[in-house]
This record gives sequence, structure tokens and C-alpha cells, in this order.
Amino acid sequence: MQSKNIGSAGRASSGGIRALRTAAKLKLGDLASLASIPLEQLKRIERGLAELDDVTARALAVAMGIEPSTVCDAHSAFLGSATPGEGYTTSRRGNLEMTPARSPLPKGDSRRKVLDLFCGAGGLSYGFERAGGFVTVGGIDLLPDRIATFTANHEHAVGLAGDICETSPASIREVVGDVDVIVGGPPCQGFSSIRPFRTLTESDRRNNLVEHYVLMLAGLQPRWFVFENVVGLVTHEGGEKLRAIVDAFSEMGYTVSWRIINAASFGVPQNRERVVIVGNRLGIDFEWPNPTHYVSYRSMAGRRRELVSSMPLDSTVLKPAVTLIDAIGDLPPVESGSEVSSYARSSGKTEFQRIIRDGASELTWHRATKHSDKMMEIIRHAGSSINDLPPGMVTSGFSSCYSRLDADRPSNTITVNFVHPSSNRCIHPHQDRALTPREGARLQSFPDSFAFVGTTAQVVKQIGNAVPPALGTVIAEAIRSQDATQMPRTSGQRALSR
Ligand SMILES: C[S@@+](CC[C@H](N)C(=O)[O-])C[C@H]1O[C@@H](n2cnc3c(N)ncnc32)[C@H](O)[C@@H]1O
Repeated sequence: MQSKNIGSAGRASSGGIRALRTAAKLKLGDLASLASIPLEQLKRIERGLAELDDVTARALAVAMGIEPSTVCDAHSAFLGSATPGEGYTTSRRGNLEMTPARSPLPKGDSRRKVLDLFCGAGGLSYGFERAGGFVTVGGIDLLPDRIATFTANHEHAVGLAGDICETSPASIREVVGDVDVIVGGPPCQGFSSIRPFRTLTESDRRNNLVEHYVLMLAGLQPRWFVFENVVGLVTHEGGEKLRAIVDAFSEMGYTVSWRIINAASFGVPQNRERVVIVGNRLGIDFEWPNPTHYVSYRSMAGRRRELVSSMPLDSTVLKPAVTLIDAIGDLPPVESGSEVSSYARSSGKTEFQRIIRDGASELTWHRATKHSDKMMEIIRHAGSSINDLPPGMVTSGFSSCYSRLDADRPSNTITVNFVHPSSNRCIHPHQDRALTPREGARLQSFPDSFAFVGTTAQVVKQIGNAVPPALGTVIAEAIRSQDATQMPRTSGQRALSR
């Protein structure tokens, strides 16, 4: 596929401050203490996640016995060349690379146009397309492999690989035109220091990815937006950050509402809670969809009014939650280090399996991590928590590490490490191995027909970071019904329903 650059700035290679520190034979903690800066801050600066101000640069230089300019130059070169961090991490790359849409949007296509910010694999916007009545016209993500997957599954979308901080609403509009809906979830380090919207201008220097999301809305003025994030946002700084974000959206003229949603309550075979903010410029009080599946779980956000919970609803009128085995039970057994590429049965056994196969004839990404002999020994002993292991077998880890998933419940939250047993519960309930990427994708409700592009490590992260498409579909359907019934038609606006 043809790609072209729409950004500036060349890239120089550098190991940054970390390389200088290593050359000075200093450990991270030693340098932090010599320079009198918090360890966490130093870690973030080294990884390109926090700004390096002049005072800190000077302190680091003195601690390493070098010139401040050497520290600044190394850091700038690092930001220009760093392999960007995964998932919720970020770093400045300099170039925005554009992948054109695989096929142009047919003339007169009346679907609502969706722009996906921080799109990753595009799980959220893919869910919108699946709802019908929406078409994704663009997506932006720091990482080229994410854009490769995104464009492979969004036929009419332009993909922009690069740092959102390097672009502006005007240049995005030039590439994708007007949009009706913006969706996306800025990575969470953007929680720090959001300013009131009225004090933001396009020319401001911002580290804060949430502010970039806000400015995209301000510049592109879609009728609707969906902002998704981790539940931690609800309690962060006593709820101040969430309030500031909601206020920023309201100040821009959006009618805003937010909820905490567990994907399992909507038929996703996984307990995955997220905070979702929906806003519109139509003055509509958004009506949140009601859960379709009964799931018994304890919310990370406690008992809040904003929790979309299936608990108060009569469990007899809801479907039972989709369990892990309902979701992956038709996949053939696979051993650690092996791959199986054909389905053992011609069709799925459960309703979920039949739907999720989505006509795929070849089984892809059903390959299991090759575990070491020591890890195999641990896996053979693994139970529902780390405490099930014989004493001394592992020396550290949270209680959910090295643990087996429960077959008869929705799975635990899938993380970006679900192929590694040392991370959050991800060992297959009956087989001696961690989940395969295909199993993870199923638990995230990606259909088997969805094309993942990249190395195994990249694809696992694309899967683990995504909004489950099925959750995107539920939100999209709610928006579609409320948009279609209440939207005042204005000139120049596209016809809305299909
Ligand atoms: C949680 S993931 C998005 C998942 C996506 N909504 C989905 O449903 O598949 C967040 C994404 O933000 C991207 N990202 C992080 N910093 C960025 C930046 N500065 N500019 C653009 N994208 C960034 C990451 O590469 C990551 O793919």
C-alpha cells in the first residue's frame, strides 16, 4: 500500500537520557537521587512520557557530570527516533504517515462519517460500522502497525500514523473532510493537567492527549462524540479530572453524559469496565442502552449512580453472561509453541461462536506462546490464583498472576500481556498454556474475519488495548436511534439514515 508523509521533522537515532545514564554507570534510582528528582518522573522522562524542563535537565547533567546541552540534545534526538511505547504510552515521532483509503467512499453514501482518534486496531469504530449507518473515514494512531490493522479493516478510512500532537483539526479535515462522529480514548497519562477548554488554543503547546481530543472536537465540530477511558479516571484526584473533561466538553456546546460500563453486560465474554462519555451538539439527553446480559461482578468504581449495571434488573429477563468457554470452546486444542490453522468443527456450537466466526474459513492467530520448561512446570500447577502454586515455585507476583481462567464465567479483563502467564490471569482453563491471540480476540469480541496485521507481539497489544467491537456496536446503535429521530436537518449535512 502506498504511504506518504504529511508531517515534518527528520529522525536521529539516540538512546536518550537512559544511554547517558548507562554510560555514567548509574542506576535509575541513583540518578534520581543524585539529581533530586522523583524516580517515577525520571522513568517517565527516559521513556519520553514526561517533559524535560530546563531545571531538571541541569540537575541531571550535574549528577552525570556532563553539559546540560548534552542531556537536552540526547533527549530531543530520542524523542525524534524512539520506538513509540505500546498501548497507553506515547512519544513524539515527528512524521505523520498517511495510508490512503483502500476504496473511495461511494458518492452519495448517506452513512454518518466517523473519525477514530487514538484508533489502535480500530475496535471501537469497527463496532460502529458493524452497527450499520456509520462509515469510518479516518483514524490516527502513533504506531504504524495499528494503522496497518486499522486500514485493513476499514475499507473507506484514511490511516494516519504519527503523534496526534503533530497535527491539527484543519489538516485532519483536509484529509478526511467533515465528520459526524468522533470516537476515541486518549491514553491515560493525559489525565495530568487538563486546562479549562476556554484557555486552550490551537497554538498552545500541550502534552496532554485529552486536550488534543478536546481540540479535535472544537475544530471539527462533529454532532456526536464518544470518549472512552479506563475506570481509574472516575476516581482520579477525587473525580476532578473527569469533571474537568466533562466541563471542557460542555463548554464547547455539547450535551454530555457519562457511565461506567462492563462489556460483559452487553454480551462480551469478558468483564471489562470502562468509563464512556457520550456528547452531542443537538441538546439530546443521551439515553444509555440497557444491559442485555446478566453478570454478577463487583465494579471497580464501587456503587455509583453512573454504573450501567445489570444487578437491579431482573436476571430472569436478561440472557446469562457469555462465558469464556461459550466464546472459545470450539477452537481446537493447541500446545505451547504450536499453531493450529483449521477449525476442528465446521460450525460453532454456541450462538456466540457461530456469530464470531463470521464466515471465516481459515483459523488465524491460534498460536500458543512457547513457554520455557520452568514456566510449563508452573502452568501445570496453576489454579485460580498464585496461592495455588506450591510454596517457593514463584517468588513474586499479584494474586492473579500465573493463574487459570475460569471456563464458566466471562473472562477477566484481557490486558496487553495475555499471552504471558506471569501477567494477569490468562492461562487456559484446561490446556497447559496461555491464551492464544485468537482466543484473546474472541474474548474481546473481534470476529474471526477481522484481519490483524503485525508481529505476534504487536497484534497481542492491538487486541489487549481495544474497545470490544461489540460494545462499540451497542453505543453506536443507541446514537443512531437518537440521532435519526431527533436531529434537525441543516443544509450541507448528510442524510442520516440508511
Ligand atoms: C487504548 S488504545 C486504543 C484502542 C482503540 N480505541 C480500539 O478500540 O482498538 C490507545 C492508542 O493510542 C495510541 N497513542 C498513544 N499516544 C498517541 C499519540 N500521541 N498520538 C496518537 N496515538 C497515540 C496508542 O498507540 C494506542 O494504540
